[in-house]
Amino acid sequence: MADQKIYQASTTAPVNIAVVKYWGKRDAKLNLPTNSSISVTLSQADLRTHTTAACSASFPTSDSLLLNSSPQDVTGARTQACFRELRSLRAALEASDSSLPKLSALPLKIVSENNFPTAAGLASSAAGFAALVRAIANLYDLSSSPTELSRIARQGSGSACRSLFGGYVAWQMGTKDDGSDSLAVEVAPASHWPTMRALILVASAKQKKVSSTSGMQTTVATSELFQRRAEVVVPKHMEEMEKAIKEKDFEAFGKLRLFWFGVKWNISLTWSSDVSWAAVGVVEDINRKAGKIVAAYTFDAGPNAVIYYEEANTDIVAGVVKGALGSVSGWESQDIKAQASDVLDAADV
Ligand code: ADP
Ligand code: DP6
Ligand code: CO
Repeated sequence: MADQKIYQASTTAPVNIAVVKYWGKRDAKLNLPTNSSISVTLSQADLRTHTTAACSASFPTSDSLLLNSSPQDVTGARTQACFRELRSLRAALEASDSSLPKLSALPLKIVSENNFPTAAGLASSAAGFAALVRAIANLYDLSSSPTELSRIARQGSGSACRSLFGGYVAWQMGTKDDGSDSLAVEVAPASHWPTMRALILVASAKQKKVSSTSGMQTTVATSELFQRRAEVVVPKHMEEMEKAIKEKDFEAFGKLRLFWFGVKWNISLTWSSDVSWAAVGVVEDINRKAGKIVAAYTFDAGPNAVIYYEEANTDIVAGVVKGALGSVSGWESQDIKAQASDVLDAADV
């Protein structure tokens, strides 16, 4: 009788919030971006995905994924690409060592939970696909580096490649058609600038009407400024942002107008919320009063604001934001406070 054993491994992965945004694909199948990007990985103590990957000959023959207790379609090209790449790495291991169980041939059962709003513009696809890829890599006992796993996670969701690292992370867009050089790398560990804080303002935890994928496709198809941003603006911002991070220069970090272009082009049509604009106003007031940039706001593809600040300014930023927005109705939650963090395999259970 075939081995009926259940093999399983679990992991957690953090959210990352970009400070130079990925927006636009040059290859939608491989999730190859039109520009490089940089993000800060947030602490898993606050926002995280927990994923268990299991495989067994006793499972139903097709692969499955349960996300927050709801069955998901795994036949999509993105999830399939991750499964295929990981299976082929496992198959290569099995081919080199015949004593290994043939896990690559078994159906996969993935169970995942996000402890924060899914598909609401808080990077659930980033934490989600990073966790999925790492859980399966652990299950298959792969020794792949985070950069190698980033190549696979990127095919699930572009931003996921950056969640394989902690701290300050760049996704280098690469130039090759096969995507082999479109990878995430560490810019600096979290310990390099440990005083960085993020305040996450949840204007709406509801699923957004337009996914990140289709939002960026609309921009690519309709924006005349898009190409200029990718070719001229972002390369300059990448350089300036890396320098700001290396020098721990918050003013330079915040000056890069984290309130990105896409807000006006897409979010105002599809994702915006009045309360999001209130957050923008409060941050601008704080900076005006301080006489310098002490708070930097940013939005991903959704209405929820993330405000970066340094720990020493907690009272004049986080304190003031919470106080000021308390009088603006519509906030579902104002108090997820996160820290930049390193991703550790020690978080595996
Ligand atoms: P977000 O702004 O939250 O990243 P996206 O539109 O980019 O929104 O992606 C949301 C999609 O990501 C979900 O509909 C789901 O398909 C996928 N996703 C989110 N969390 C997970 C997870 N934990 N495991 C697998 N896929 C996930
Ligand atoms: C605004 O990575 O969610 O958060 O690759 O289509 O899954 P897909 O998109 P996704 O887009 C993220 C867009 C962003 C900016 C960023 O994270 O860099
Ligand atoms: Co996403």
